[in-house]
Amino acid sequence: MSNKIALLPGDGVGPEIMAEAEKLLGALQQGQGLDIEIEKAEIGGAAIDATGVPLPDSTLALAQAADAVLLGAVGGPRWDDIERERRPERALLALRSELGLFANLRPALLYPELADASALRRELVAGLDLLIVRELTGGIYFGEPRGIDKDASGQRRGYNTMVYSESEIERIARQAFISARRRYGHLCSVDKANVLEVSQLWREVVASVHADYPDVVLSHMYVDNAAMQLVRDPRQFDVIVTGNLFGDILSDCAAMLTGSIGMLPSASLDSTGKGMYEPVHGSAPDIAGEGLANPLAAILSVAMMLRHTLDEGTLADRIERAVGLVLSEGFRTSDIAGTYRAISTVEMGDAVVAAMDRVPA
Ligand code: IPM
Ligand code: MG
Repeated sequence: MSNKIALLPGDGVGPEIMAEAEKLLGALQQGQGLDIEIEKAEIGGAAIDATGVPLPDSTLALAQAADAVLLGAVGGPRWDDIERERRPERALLALRSELGLFANLRPALLYPELADASALRRELVAGLDLLIVRELTGGIYFGEPRGIDKDASGQRRGYNTMVYSESEIERIARQAFISARRRYGHLCSVDKANVLEVSQLWREVVASVHADYPDVVLSHMYVDNAAMQLVRDPRQFDVIVTGNLFGDILSDCAAMLTGSIGMLPSASLDSTGKGMYEPVHGSAPDIAGEGLANPLAAILSVAMMLRHTLDEGTLADRIERAVGLVLSEGFRTSDIAGTYRAISTVEMGDAVVAAMDRVPA
């Protein structure tokens, strides 16, 4: 039975980079017999313009029926003044929540060719290969109570709640231990247990889950120190597991270590292996429509989809090696060009598709 993929291009550079992802999938269908059906739908600002809401029921239904969702990016200045409940970002949060995508995997891998594009010196980042496992459907992003109201003196106050239940912590911890086991066997759990009760519980539960994964080396770190260590000596990390807000912040920081956020894919998984795959970067409205966007994060998101949902690990490896090959041959979009001549979004997509035939099977 063919796998159903919901393709949601979204806003800004989303449609351009998703066109390259789709081109690659088309080539895999033709050349490798990949059995998939792709259906597209609107999301984010594009959906607001067309229907008035960022996540139309039809788009949610398509995503629910699909085996995997491939998403471009949402948001842009045109929709910045809309009230919070109807902003493009709500579509992303609703999809995560409705589809139960609690485990967000954000690898930060530095391709050797890009070491000089990193925000850190080459000698600090050469060989960098870490994975952030971010809890995605709980914590302060979704905790109740939340709101803005007035206190007794009539002054307004805003509040959110950082809350995690034992079962939420346990399932993300298991996912992270399994990821660490498949990688280099080290897991660092990041929290703020010196101040927050929610973090104290987090630490206790992660430590107890460790009993089932004795082959993995577990450490704990406070989030402020983790932010410092990421820019001081990022190669000390293998897998980091953390809550929703801390993971949001630390993953942007890790992204910059790799040279360009335009290189980074992500996977958001439910408990059955279904997933949503998207670049870590946003909609970049300032360069939208100009052919400047780097499609490699979208292309590498396709690789993650093949590995985690479609059980096509060999094809996923091949895409990743094709990306390495085009970089080694000097193909660069402007975000990673340095002294190289920059090529366009479409040219980079073409280069990866062509390179697929040159990497060994
Ligand atoms: C991310 C983004 C989102 C988040 C926004 C767009 C809601 O920053 O995926 O990291 O905060 O999770
Ligand atoms: Mg973020």
